[in-house]
Amino acid sequence: MPAVVVIGTQWGDEGKGKVVDLFSQDADYIVRFQGGNNAGHTLVVNDKKYIFHLIPSGILHENKMCMIGNGVVLDPGVLIEELDKLEENGLQVTPDNLLISEHLHVIMPYHKALDIAREEVKGKKKIGTTGRGIGPCYEDKVARSGIRMNDLLDSEIFLTKLQRNVEEKNFLLTNFLNSDPLSTEKIYRTYVEYAERLRPYVGSVSKELSRAFAKKSNVLFEGAQGTHLDIDHGTYPYVTSSNVVAGNACCGTGIGPTQIDRVIGICKAYTTRVGGGPFVTELENEVGRHIQQCGGEYGATTGRPRRCGWLDTVVVNNAVRLNGLSWLAITKLDVLTGVDPLKICVAYRYNGKEIEDFPVQVKVLECCEPVYETLPGWEDSITDVRKFDDLPENAKRYVRRVEELTGVPVKLISVGPGRDQTILLENPFDV
Ligand code: GDP
Ligand code: IMO
Ligand code: MG
Repeated sequence: MPAVVVIGTQWGDEGKGKVVDLFSQDADYIVRFQGGNNAGHTLVVNDKKYIFHLIPSGILHENKMCMIGNGVVLDPGVLIEELDKLEENGLQVTPDNLLISEHLHVIMPYHKALDIAREEVKGKKKIGTTGRGIGPCYEDKVARSGIRMNDLLDSEIFLTKLQRNVEEKNFLLTNFLNSDPLSTEKIYRTYVEYAERLRPYVGSVSKELSRAFAKKSNVLFEGAQGTHLDIDHGTYPYVTSSNVVAGNACCGTGIGPTQIDRVIGICKAYTTRVGGGPFVTELENEVGRHIQQCGGEYGATTGRPRRCGWLDTVVVNNAVRLNGLSWLAITKLDVLTGVDPLKICVAYRYNGKEIEDFPVQVKVLECCEPVYETLPGWEDSITDVRKFDDLPENAKRYVRRVEELTGVPVKLISVGPGRDQTILLENPFDV
């Protein structure tokens, strides 16, 4: 019966996809509630790698309902590509295992064009977006001029809204952003085809969830990005354009807060970040490059190298508060094997003073120095370990220290990308 939310505690790419795939074994429903195809969630099952940008990471399991909530911004071309790829792999996605919210906003070609052109104009100060049109689509949603899935399914309404939008966006693109205009007719033709392909999957996620709760089903909410990319609580303006925190599992799907039973924060054993923005524990040295190589830290969406650094509990503690975390799941602990000594950032030094609260201003963050605690490393490979007690003493010590510094129990430790490479101390649905 429980509803469990999985979110990222850092700047994304913590391994949410792997954990959601694993937890999906016991879930009946798996639901995305925000973000779009800026996300790249990697699953490794039977040595085969899958990357999902929009489809919830539960899709590889049979008899599960995967849902895309109203808080997601959806690029129909990308979703259709994912559906086709799954079909090539022998996996049938039908309206019986995928439901798309009629309320969600649709990413249009002008959103992508605006995203890319704006970044170009910003030059060195660019955010480093994924260029997928995420920000401009959320802007239109808030401006009340966006095109929702139910608009796309009505060709008359769609055409009227499209014409109005293309007129405005072409003015911006050609007059301010030095870019080419887009053609309404071309977009219309392509998107009407998309609409027909997706029509059978569209419905009410909110009502389906209400039925799920009535049946006492297990519901798993899959966050995208990470807490510090949240539009309100992250390192603004170096953030994404949606609320990433657990609370948005409610607004982004149409349920109430009383339905949520547990919130699980995914925390990489070190820290990474893609794109611009402050990163206090960043390692621009041999250790950073070692972690990047051993962890395969290259973006699942854009292929960009991820910036790497030590674990930062100032960051993680901020996520503990913002999400009301029940547990932590520590991922990629195996990547730290052979790194000795290890460091954990426990506070920042700013203007000669130690602070433990994550600063609001990017300008302040950029001047913060990390205060580290040093821990001994371990040498033996841990990728085959499946029991906490079988971990090397210093690996256990590292995990226990994270628990002490955050005040949150660690109930999952991931020691490799594979579904089975996991030490699970409690079933997430045993609430
Ligand atoms: P997400 O966006 O949070 O789902 O994470 P990504 O899929 O973008 O990035 C995580 C990467 O780490 C993927 O390539 C995963 O296959 C991989 N991964 C996940 N957990 C582990 C782990 O415990 N150890 C190792 N070595 N790789 C992992
Ligand atoms: P998952 O779900 C890591 C980052 C981008 C950029 C900023 C804004 O795989 O963890 P956007 O295209 O959203 O406007 O870009 O946010 N970003 C991510 N970084 N993982 C993600 O998703 C991300 N989604 C967006 O790199 O810095
Ligand atoms: Mg990712």
